Amino acid sequence: MITKFPPISSKAPVMLHGADYSPEQWLKYPEVLREDIRLMKLAGCNVMSVGMFSWVSFEPEEGVFTFDWMDRLLDSFAENGIYAFLATPSASRPAWMSQKYPEVLRVESNRVRNLHGFRHNHCYTSPVYRDKTAIINAKLAERYSDHPAVIGWHISNEFGGECHCDYCQNAFREWVKEKYDHDLDKVNHAWWATFWSHTYTSWEQIESPAPHGETMVHGLNLDWRRFVSDQSIDFCQHEMDSVRSYNPELPITTNMHMIDSIDYRKLAKTLDFISWDAYPEWHASEEAEDAQLAARTAMSHDLFRSLLGKPFVLMESTPSLTNWQSISKLKRPGMHKLSSIQAVAHGSDSVQYFQWRKSRGSSEKFHGAVVDHNGQEGTRVFNDVAELGQTLAGLTEVVGTSTPAQTAIIYDWDNRWAIKDAQGIRNSGLHYEETVQQHHRALWELGIPVDIIGTEDDLSNYKLIIAPMLYLISEENGKRIESYVEQGGTFLTTYWSGIVGETDLCHLGGFPGPLRKTLGIWAEETEGLHSRDVNGLVLEVGNILNLSGDYDAHEIAELIHLEGAEALGVYRNDFYAGRPALTVNKLGAGQAYHLATRVKDLAFYEELYASITSKIGISRSLDSELPAGVTAQIRTDGENDYIFVQNFSGSVQDVQLDGRDYTDMETDQGVSGVLNLPVNGLSILKRKR
Ligand code: GLA
Ligand code: ZN
Repeated sequence: MITKFPPISSKAPVMLHGADYSPEQWLKYPEVLREDIRLMKLAGCNVMSVGMFSWVSFEPEEGVFTFDWMDRLLDSFAENGIYAFLATPSASRPAWMSQKYPEVLRVESNRVRNLHGFRHNHCYTSPVYRDKTAIINAKLAERYSDHPAVIGWHISNEFGGECHCDYCQNAFREWVKEKYDHDLDKVNHAWWATFWSHTYTSWEQIESPAPHGETMVHGLNLDWRRFVSDQSIDFCQHEMDSVRSYNPELPITTNMHMIDSIDYRKLAKTLDFISWDAYPEWHASEEAEDAQLAARTAMSHDLFRSLLGKPFVLMESTPSLTNWQSISKLKRPGMHKLSSIQAVAHGSDSVQYFQWRKSRGSSEKFHGAVVDHNGQEGTRVFNDVAELGQTLAGLTEVVGTSTPAQTAIIYDWDNRWAIKDAQGIRNSGLHYEETVQQHHRALWELGIPVDIIGTEDDLSNYKLIIAPMLYLISEENGKRIESYVEQGGTFLTTYWSGIVGETDLCHLGGFPGPLRKTLGIWAEETEGLHSRDVNGLVLEVGNILNLSGDYDAHEIAELIHLEGAEALGVYRNDFYAGRPALTVNKLGAGQAYHLATRVKDLAFYEELYASITSKIGISRSLDSELPAGVTAQIRTDGENDYIFVQNFSGSVQDVQLDGRDYTDMETDQGVSGVLNLPVNGLSILKRKR
C-alpha cells in the first residue's frame, strides 16, 4: 500500500522550487518586476518567499498601511502559476518604531541597549513589540490568508539571540518561579548556589548571566538558556496566534538555521511544517573535504526532518556563493544539482534559495542569486537553476514520501549547552558536535538512513540508538534507555556520558550515573589528554563484533571497571594499558556498547557500525559497498523506494548496484550492474520495495 504524507500545501502538490524575493527593493523599477515573473517561469521556479524584511514598505508610518505593491505581486503570481510563502516582517522593524519605542530594541548581556539597526535586534518580551507585530500580522492575514497564490506562513526569519532588558529579567524570574514551584530553596539546591556564597535570599536577586556579573553558576546558565529558548518560542507562538484564525488551513513554519539559542525540538512542536536554511561552504578546503561537509550537511537535513518526522522544506540555500564566508568560492559544475538534491534525498520537498535577485545596494548585494546584476537569463548559475527545476518537476511522486530509518542518534540541545559550559577535563575542546558528526558520517558512508532525535522522543521505533557524549541525562531518561535495551534495543554511548542531571548537578553514586546498569560499567576516573598524548584502542582477538587491529585514541580517556559488561577492546598505553576501552553489556533482550575514549579514524566507525548494523539486521539504502565519499539515501512510499546515489568524493566513481532492478528517474531507463558517477554526480533511482 502506498502511504505518503500530504504535500505541504494541497494547492501545490509538487516539488517546490524557488527563492526569497524582495520586490519592495525594486518598486522604482517596474520593468525589473515584470521581467522577474518571466525569468521565474523560465527557471522552473514555482514558489517565492516574500515579505520577510518589508515592514517599512507595509507600514511607512505608525498606523498607516500600504499593501498595493503586495496586492499586485501576489495577483501576478497567481496569474502565472507561482506560489508564495508569505512572511511576517518581525525580523527587522522600521526606524520610526525604534525611535518612538526604544524598548523594542535588544539589551545585550552587558546591560547596554542596542541602537536601531541590523536585524533580529528586538526584544521577545517587549509588550510594544508584541502589539506591533500582532497588528501588522493581522493586517497581512486579513488581506492575504485566502489569496490563491499563498500556500503558507513564513513566520519572521531565523529567530535567535537573547535580550537582557528589565522585561526579560522579570519574565525570567517568573519562569524560574514556575519551574521550581515558587520555592527559592529548590532553586538554590538545583543550582547548587551555596557554592561561593551565591545563595539567593529573594527572587529579585535572580538575574541573567552577565560578563561583569554571574557566569559561574552552571544551573543558572542552563536555565537561562532554556528560558531564552522558551521565550523565543513563545514569541513565535504569539505571531502564529495573530495570523492563524484568518485561515486555519494555511500551514505555518518559521525558517530555522543552525542557531544555538533555540531548542528546535521544542519549537517544532508548535509548527505545521519544518523549514531550514542550509549554507555549506563547498570547496572551502581540499576537494576531498567536500565529503566531510556533505556528511555534516546530511546530518542537519536528518535533524530537521526528524523534528516532525515528515518531509520538510529547504527554505534557503545559495544558488552560487554567499557574501559572508571568509572566501566565497563558486559552486563547481555539478555541485548545485548535487547539493540541492541532497536535501531532497534526506526528506525535503523543496529546494529554495536566498535569493532570487541580487540587491543593488547594502550588505547582501554580492550574495549569490538566481539573477545577477546583469539581469540576464542563460548565465551559468541561471542555467544550473533551470536544469534543477526540470529535475524537480520529474520528482512529483517523491513528494510526501518518508525516510525509513531504523537507526537514531540522540542530540539534545540542553546536553549541548551543558557540555559547552562545564569546566573540567578538557577546556581546550571536548568537540561534542564533531563527535556526533563522526558517528553520523560513518552511517552516511555506509548508506544507512538515520534520524536525529532527543532523549525524550519515542525510542521504540529504532533498532539502534547512538548517544555520543550523553553528558546530561535525567534519572528518568536513563530509565527509558534502560527499558529500551531490556526490550531488545541496541544502544551505544561514549565517554563523558551520564555525568549530570537536568539542572547540571552531578549524578552521585558513580558515573555513568543512570546508565551504569545499562552499560554494565563504572567509570571511576576520566582524564583529558594533550594533543601529544596519543593512547590507543586495541581490539581484543575474537571479539563479538569481529573488529580487529588498533586505532589511535585522543582527547579523553575514561578508566572503567566492568560490572557485567565484556571488553571488546583495551587501552594501548600508559598506566591503564590493558584496561577496557570498548565494551558491550547484555541486558534483557538487548545490548549496550560503550566507547571509553575518542577515536578519530573514520575507518573505525565504519567497521563498528557495519558490524553492529549487520548483526541486528539494519538495512542499507543500497545493499552494496559504496566508495568513500559516496552515499545512498532512501525515501519510500511503501511500494516504491527512491534511492539517491550521491558522489561527493571529488573524483569519478563506479558504484556497484545490488542486483535489483532500477529505473533512472531522470532518463526513465533501466539501470543495473555498475553505476558510473562523474565528479559531483548523482543518480536518482527507483525500485520496487
Ligand atoms: C540567512 C537569512 C537570509 C540571508 C542569508 C544569506 O539565512 O535568512 O535573509 O541573509 O542568510 O546567506
Ligand atoms: Zn527584552
